[in-house]
Amino acid sequence: MLHNNIIPKMGLPSKPSFFSFIFILTLFILTLYNTLHRNPTATAVSQAPIKHRNDKYDSLHYQNIFLSSASNYTLSTYLRHLTLQPHLAGTPLSLRTTLYVKSHFDSLGLQTHLSNHTVLLSYPLFSSLQARFLSNGSSVDLPLSEPGFSQNGVVEAYHAYSPSGSALAEPVFLNFGREQDYIALRGLGVEVKGCIGILRRGGGLSRNAVVEKAAAHGLAAVLMYTEGEKFKFRGGVERGTVMKGLGDPLSPGWAGVGGGEKLRLNDPQVTERFPAIPSLPLSSDTAEIILRSLEGPRVPQEWSENMNSTKIGRVGPGPILLNFTYLGEKKMEIIHNVLAVIRGSEEPDRFLILGNHRDAWTYGAVDPNSGTSVLLDIARRFALLMRLGWSPRRTIIFGSWDAEEFGMIGSTEWVEKNLVNLGSKAVAYLNVDCAVQGPGFFAGATPQLDDLLFEVTKKVKDPDSENISIFETYKVTNKTIDIQRLSGVDSDFAAFLQHAGVPSIDLYYGRDFPVYHTAFDSYDWMRNFGDPLFKRHVAVSGVWGLLALHLADDPILPFNYLSYVAQLQEHTNTLSNFLEGHISLRPITLAIQDLRAAAEEIAKEAKKLSEDETLDEFYVLKKRMLNDRLMFAERGFLDAEGLHGLQWFKHLIYGPQTVDGSEMNFFPGVVGAISRTMSMEKGQKQGAIQHEVWRVARAIQRAACVLKGGFS
Ligand SMILES: *[C@@H]1O[C@H](CO)[C@@H](O)[C@H](O)[C@H]1NC(C)=O
Ligand SMILES: *[C@@H]1O[C@H](CO)[C@@H](O)[C@H](O)[C@H]1NC(C)=O
Ligand SMILES: *[C@@H]1O[C@H](CO)[C@@H](O)[C@H](O)[C@H]1NC(C)=O
Ligand SMILES: *[C@@H]1O[C@H](CO)[C@@H](O)[C@H](O)[C@H]1NC(C)=O
Ligand SMILES: *[C@@H]1O[C@H](CO)[C@@H](O)[C@H](O)[C@H]1NC(C)=O
Ligand SMILES: *[C@@H]1O[C@H](CO)[C@@H](O)[C@H](O)[C@H]1NC(C)=O
Ligand SMILES: *[C@@H]1O[C@H](CO)[C@@H](O)[C@H](O)[C@H]1NC(C)=O
Repeated sequence: MLHNNIIPKMGLPSKPSFFSFIFILTLFILTLYNTLHRNPTATAVSQAPIKHRNDKYDSLHYQNIFLSSASNYTLSTYLRHLTLQPHLAGTPLSLRTTLYVKSHFDSLGLQTHLSNHTVLLSYPLFSSLQARFLSNGSSVDLPLSEPGFSQNGVVEAYHAYSPSGSALAEPVFLNFGREQDYIALRGLGVEVKGCIGILRRGGGLSRNAVVEKAAAHGLAAVLMYTEGEKFKFRGGVERGTVMKGLGDPLSPGWAGVGGGEKLRLNDPQVTERFPAIPSLPLSSDTAEIILRSLEGPRVPQEWSENMNSTKIGRVGPGPILLNFTYLGEKKMEIIHNVLAVIRGSEEPDRFLILGNHRDAWTYGAVDPNSGTSVLLDIARRFALLMRLGWSPRRTIIFGSWDAEEFGMIGSTEWVEKNLVNLGSKAVAYLNVDCAVQGPGFFAGATPQLDDLLFEVTKKVKDPDSENISIFETYKVTNKTIDIQRLSGVDSDFAAFLQHAGVPSIDLYYGRDFPVYHTAFDSYDWMRNFGDPLFKRHVAVSGVWGLLALHLADDPILPFNYLSYVAQLQEHTNTLSNFLEGHISLRPITLAIQDLRAAAEEIAKEAKKLSEDETLDEFYVLKKRMLNDRLMFAERGFLDAEGLHGLQWFKHLIYGPQTVDGSEMNFFPGVVGAISRTMSMEKGQKQGAIQHEVWRVARAIQRAACVLKGGFS
């Protein structure tokens, strides 16, 4: 199934030839000679500093070859193969894409292996929804599946990990299902208890959070629909997981493997990850049928202002009755991460990881295989560079993760399994999930990587305008690329950053797309709407690949902690405005000053070292020591205790937000304390928030301390 025009033949660095043996022997003798005849006044000459002279030129040379070897043809071919059949995690069809990706890496001569995990997944068995009209007693079956897809191995629309259950009750409209929506309903005198809630996606809450909230308000079941420009794709239904947190629910905090420890299904640690009431997704058409039949108070104006259907006038409950049934099963399945490695020639024990998930709800052309095809193309082009003599300074790892859609399971289990190795050796993690959803470049990053992202986007052509780079496109509109921060728990960077403290980037073209998690997310959709000429795929491959080349090859890691300082200061200002002086943020402000001094100092040191031409014998070691400080500073933000009630999340700057629609997507511990203590008395409340402020301050100080590199 592989395309024969791109299979290079090359030797593996792992199989040393006779010549490399002689070379190493010669080096050894030279080094021995140097050591024995050390002359303190003369500059020792070893092989590494000489190579350093060529680094800049070499790197530029290979970057240019990398950029010019882009091919929309190979990208589209990979995507076509990956999307021929649906490939939901844990199903036989998904093994096809596993083997496709593995044989691609194998054919390029990369060291490739599968990392299998045994985890709990969830599938639907039966679902039905009937509406009963009280006026005439007649019942109608409401459609739950997507027209025309059920025969092709596409899974029925469902919510993974929803409990099985049934309900016979009146429907009530909950808007987005946020706390303020329930308050509005109470204001209208609407009693939601015992009803079946209908809500629309998009209020900034996860599926798990809205279902849990509905359960807390006494609803019997939840139906969710997605608005948007789905008119071209009538009947599309958005699947998704309703599990809380991430990773295998039966092996929380450790890697799930066959024969390893597993919690029991009825363990409270497991059951609290699943909602208490059942839920199902609906097409917007089906939702409209129900919502149009509602009587009772009028929909609040605030809700209807940004609602697409003008036909929804009242919130209910009733008068129709809904008969809701969902039956699902939770099953242990084996999932497969595919790993491919290019061993670093000078620092093989420093890792740069490029990751993307492979599993999809349906055909997955956008989500996630646009990213997979880009990953495969980067591997192809890196193999080409290797044939031309390139070998990266640091080790590059390609990760193709499984079961992301169920809750980032493949990547989380892998990170848990390799935690100490990653903590001590990973320089950065570069994630791409949906590489292309539409127009416009978007990125998320930890702030020390901002500058690198800007530099790289200056070198990659904007796929949607002529003769201009992605970076310049923003410049002409007087904007700069708006880099998001990685607080979301919505793709595979979560475990790397929020658990292991690895500096991370997440890239994508287009913000959202109408066929999200539906059976319409197919190769045809990509060809017709998403990226007809695959030029946006080419652009993402350029940015992702150049980021990787810099992080793998730059003698000094391209991290600027002054950006982190500026961002932390901005976060602190936002928090300060919110708290209106009730809590002292001085500990954080002082810690930021510390970090600023350390960041300025290390920037100077880095500059000096990169201009150092003296070829001193400790040069390699000095760079290594500096790089270690740059790499480990991010780990300083981790805290062994983790977030309150979410101990697995260790990062105190970026992590999951526990507050409805909060704009504060940083300092998750502080924001969590603010919401948790809302109804406590003043002293208790201030104490809890102040404690979290101190924890953030200490985290920033730890990072500063690592950057400084010395002991206190
Ligand atoms: C992982 O799964 C694949 C596919 O089932 C299998 O061929 C392989 O032997 C497994 N690897 C290990 C190490 O268990
Ligand atoms: C029963 O009433 C509903 C709503 O009033 C209507 O849509 C439906 O067609 C009626 N069914 C029959 C069989 O009359
Ligand atoms: C409503 O539909 C229009 C296009 O028909 C779309 O641009 C807009 O985002 C939709 N609004 C919502 C809230 O879904
Ligand atoms: C509700 O639906 C289920 C499943 O389709 C069916 O078995 C049951 O009889 C229905 N209940 C009522 C009251 O219509
Ligand atoms: C882009 O550059 C080419 C070659 O330099 C030139 O012929 C063309 O007119 C340029 N297009 C635009 C829109 O500037
Ligand atoms: C862009 O910013 C510059 C100065 O920052 C200003 O002079 C110019 O008018 C702005 N252009 C637009 C299109 O807003
Ligand atoms: C690649 O882009 C060229 C134009 O630059 C276009 O003619 C060709 O059809 C594209 N190939 C694919 C497979 O989309």
